[in-house]
Amino acid sequence: MILVTGGAGFIGSNFVMNWLAQSDETTINLDLLTYAGNLQNLSSLSSDQRHIFVHGNIADSTLVNGLLTQHQPRAIINFAAESHVDRSIHGPEDFIQTNIIGTFRLLEAVRAYWNGLNEGAKKGFRFLHVSTDEVYGSLSKTEPAFSETHQYEPNSPYSASKAASDHLVRAYHHTYGLPTLTTNCSNNYGPYHFPEKLIPLMIVNALAGKPLPVYGDGQQIRDWLYVKDHCSAIRRVLADGRVGEVYNVGGCNEKPNIEIVHTICGLLDELRPRSDGSSYREQVTYVTDRPGHDRRYAIDAGKIASELGWKPDETFETGIRKTVQWYLDNQSWVSNVQSGSYRSWVEKNYQGRG
Ligand code: NAD
Ligand code: TYD
Repeated sequence: MILVTGGAGFIGSNFVMNWLAQSDETTINLDLLTYAGNLQNLSSLSSDQRHIFVHGNIADSTLVNGLLTQHQPRAIINFAAESHVDRSIHGPEDFIQTNIIGTFRLLEAVRAYWNGLNEGAKKGFRFLHVSTDEVYGSLSKTEPAFSETHQYEPNSPYSASKAASDHLVRAYHHTYGLPTLTTNCSNNYGPYHFPEKLIPLMIVNALAGKPLPVYGDGQQIRDWLYVKDHCSAIRRVLADGRVGEVYNVGGCNEKPNIEIVHTICGLLDELRPRSDGSSYREQVTYVTDRPGHDRRYAIDAGKIASELGWKPDETFETGIRKTVQWYLDNQSWVSNVQSGSYRSWVEKNYQGRG
């Protein structure tokens, strides 16, 4: 069996569903159910005996020690994190607690468990840490994409906390021999994406007739990957990645934010035209930029492609169409996640932004 942390969030829930669609290996899913965790994401597994959900914190050593002893997983995939840059700017504390202290406590529990395994189980065990391209900092328009050896230059409290967690994972391999793997992935999009991030926020706001808030000049570039392709990359790395190695994962899909927003508007114009006949583009509003906003991220995914034969299945065009359609088809999921705390976040982040 495997232990997934943060498996009620966006990528983690997609991963668990994909995993169980392809394998019968039981999955223990440890998630704190913060604002970003949502058991509705996993409703298709509610009567599936292969999925064991545990509500709890990766930083709770007693809980994690108990789970490891009881279930004896052969692998751990660590998705649990605070993941939103804007929230890290408004309040970094939770990022330090979960991304740094939480990862540290999890590693300590795993180290003790792993040390107690027999030689065969020890050798086969894997700790896969899911991280981000944001740890590498920001690129100019012409610099080459991030490779695995690019220096770490995190610029936000979010990316700094993820960078710290990556370093801890590296140290646990180097010092204690823990069989770790790290993936650094670019921006994901797809079903179950919480509507505080760019793509789902734009879809949800467009349909609600609200402004589409583009930070700064909208020319910041991200490298977008459909979430199922990220999940397939993690499965590849878990199966055949070399212990102690880092694999960058990306979609080779660099796009400026404003182009993403225009693409979403175009798809909605086609699939759910506005009642007044004009384009959703009318709702685009340029607002004050994010402090310390990274200009460009781009991933060189050459290592995972050549070593492990991974490549994405979706192009941006196919992935974004599926995503917009998913939000149109899942309006009740959308309204359920727009709770009071979601509305107060939106007010905090966008009020007074111009
Ligand atoms: P998310 O915010 O949607 O989900 C995070 C999940 O972790 C939630 O279910 C939350 O309840 C849970 N969680 C938070 N703190 C916890 C704790 N202390 N203990 C247990 N569970 C806890 O995030 P996501 O977008 O699904 O990202 C998952 C991972 O992938 C993160 O580590 C993130 O840094 C990384 N990542 C995300 C992206 C992206 O574009 N979203 C890209 C690259 C890497
Ligand atoms: P986001 O989805 O928050 O991911 P990240 O900051 O981790 O890359 O943002 C993606 C890009 O979209 C980023 O350049 C910030 C920008 N953005 C906006 O322009 N408006 C918004 O309302 C949001 C949430 C993001």
